[in-house]
Amino acid sequence: MNPFRNTSLLIKIILVVTAIVLSFFGFATFIDYRLHREFIIGESVEKARLISSEAIRAREYISNQLQVGKIQLSEDRYGLIPVVASARIGALVAEDLDYMIRQVSDRYRNPENAPDAFETRILGEFRENPYLREQFAVTKFNGEPAFRYLQPFTVEASCLECHGDPATAPDYIKRLFPEEYDQAYNYQIGEIIGAASVIIPMDNLYRQISRNVWNDLFYSSGVFLALILCLGILSRVAVTGPLDQLGAAIRNIVHSGRYEKIPRKSRDEIGKLIMGFNEMIDHLQEKTQHLEESERRFRTLTETARDGIISFLANGQIILFNRQAERIFGYSKTEVIGESVSRLIHEDCTSLQEIATGEYLEKHQERLLRKIHRITGRRRDGEPLFLELSLSVADSDGHFFYTAILRDRSPGSENESVE
Ligand code: HEC
Repeated sequence: MNPFRNTSLLIKIILVVTAIVLSFFGFATFIDYRLHREFIIGESVEKARLISSEAIRAREYISNQLQVGKIQLSEDRYGLIPVVASARIGALVAEDLDYMIRQVSDRYRNPENAPDAFETRILGEFRENPYLREQFAVTKFNGEPAFRYLQPFTVEASCLECHGDPATAPDYIKRLFPEEYDQAYNYQIGEIIGAASVIIPMDNLYRQISRNVWNDLFYSSGVFLALILCLGILSRVAVTGPLDQLGAAIRNIVHSGRYEKIPRKSRDEIGKLIMGFNEMIDHLQEKTQHLEESERRFRTLTETARDGIISFLANGQIILFNRQAERIFGYSKTEVIGESVSRLIHEDCTSLQEIATGEYLEKHQERLLRKIHRITGRRRDGEPLFLELSLSVADSDGHFFYTAILRDRSPGSENESVE
């Protein structure tokens, strides 16, 4: 069964449009989310790239300044070692901006710089493919979703002082990181020594993405709501309102019989429908007038006739009973209309009793129609009536109906002696 059978057209239109808009909305939001995510990740790559090159530049700058100023490094000036300084500056900036930067290596000097599983994998990729300049992914850090970015460091001549032959390395380095535990020696120029690793927690990015998506959703839902509202008003004014009016006008005709036209407000299809309805009303009005007139004429004719006139259907059901018939039989119209004609025939008149059955009439139609019959009728009080009867048949909508014209020939009646 159709669950929307009793729902109004307007509601149906709004439901269908809402369903279409909602599915479109869902799809658009999904695309929007993807776009924002892509955009935010693109931005994060940009940011991470900037952070790591800043760290590299800081290291180069400090190293340069140390050489120009001929500054000797020592345990006390540990924080001035270019790699250490750039890593610490990077870490300070990162703290402000809620992300992390580390300088990691799988052959580390300081165990704090040991890579985690993700960093180890990417370092391997950098070694396999020397043209790879960066690598990033949305993955996990300490079990939390995070955006991660790595940029490789390659060994230059200046690095060899502390990462080349351990025999020539500064003593304070060897004192701080005993040679037997230090894996960061014996590098060659051009070799990959480690990487800058940037970690941006995803909650931050997700929050940003969802804020942007909600913003978009808010504006577009405003537009869609306005759209549905406009469509609803338009449908109401242009379609369902006039259709309701038309329905009410038709019901009004059926119930009250009054013909009322509807004002036509537009020239569109609905306007044409209303124009057609109004033309039909004119036509019906005219027809009804004609019908009423001819009915009046017919009634005057039958009611003033000097003969009794009774019309009945093939099954004997009486449909017309004029005033003279009322006088002859002693029944009023209301008593006999709809009843069987057989109650007007006297018990003695056996042949005609069967008249109430359609078959009899059809079978004997020829014989019955051609001549005037003399039959015995039955008055309301049961008295017999001597009647002269002529029968005619007519056909309306494929159904036969019979009209009997009767004259009372009973002794004492007004027609007794007339021949
Ligand atoms: C003056 C000595 C010195 C020089 C020159 C030097 N490094 Fe280092 N490097 C160190 C020390 C000390 C550490 C340990 C830092 C720490 O405690 O985090 C280190 C650590 C590193 C790390 C982190 C992994 C680890 O082994 O702990 C990387 C990567 C690195 N250096 C790359 C380089 C590169 C590339 C250059 C050349 C551009 C370079 N270093 C030049 C002293 C030096």
